[in-house]
Amino acid sequence: MKIIRTKDYQEMSCKAAGIIAAQVLLKPASVLGLATGSSPIGLYEQLVKWYQNGDIDFGECTTFNLDEYRGLPADHDQSYHYFMHKHFFDHVNIPQERIHLPDGTQQDADRECARYDAAIQAAGGIDLQLLGMGLNGHIGFNEPAGHFYKGTHCINLTQSTIEANKRFFASADDVPRQAYTMGVQNIMMARRIVVVVSGENKADTVREAFFGPITPHVPASILQLHPDAFVVADEAALSKCGRLLK
Ligand code: GLP
Repeated sequence: MKIIRTKDYQEMSCKAAGIIAAQVLLKPASVLGLATGSSPIGLYEQLVKWYQNGDIDFGECTTFNLDEYRGLPADHDQSYHYFMHKHFFDHVNIPQERIHLPDGTQQDADRECARYDAAIQAAGGIDLQLLGMGLNGHIGFNEPAGHFYKGTHCINLTQSTIEANKRFFASADDVPRQAYTMGVQNIMMARRIVVVVSGENKADTVREAFFGPITPHVPASILQLHPDAFVVADEAALSKCGRLLK
């Protein structure tokens, strides 16, 4: 795992966007695993700028998002479909039919999860997976648990995640209680992983996840075992790592 330390959120976004751009330039038909949350917004902005300047072309890319709230339709303004279109898809040239997210409106969870796993496999697996990290160390919506979930699954969100995400909804009561998310195996099978983390409120979790024991109670800790993972984090997020950083 390579840790890239940046001054602030903006530099984090630029460095992480650079790794994604390099992936697409070297392999135009890349399969990109994408993430939502506030952490990747800046890097999507950077990628959009490079696209608008003609420096990068997403025309051959395929994308798979990590997760989606269960119960929210694509046009709900807090759905991850909506987020991705607003921040990225509506501004670049990824063909619509090659954009994939779990369908939050599907009631049959087993069927929806199996469909999503099969689609990832049919695309040849993920070349580069982008990740943020939740306050409790979750990746996608793989919440702390007694074991790692393998494939795409339906999860009950923890109270901590509902609290953290309520800022986007009218109230905590409006936050969906369940989500569809890729599993840890889907994520770890990606050929390259880029994690973006910013802010002092994540500093304890960063230390635990990337320098502590590997445990499903801190799902991001599994990333320590990935052979080609980058953590792009700002000084504030790394502020509790001290001498652990060389
Ligand atoms: C949500 C998403 C995660 C994301 C996390 C952190 O729960 N499902 O994929 O990493 O939020 O969000 P933020 O970047 O806003 O801290």
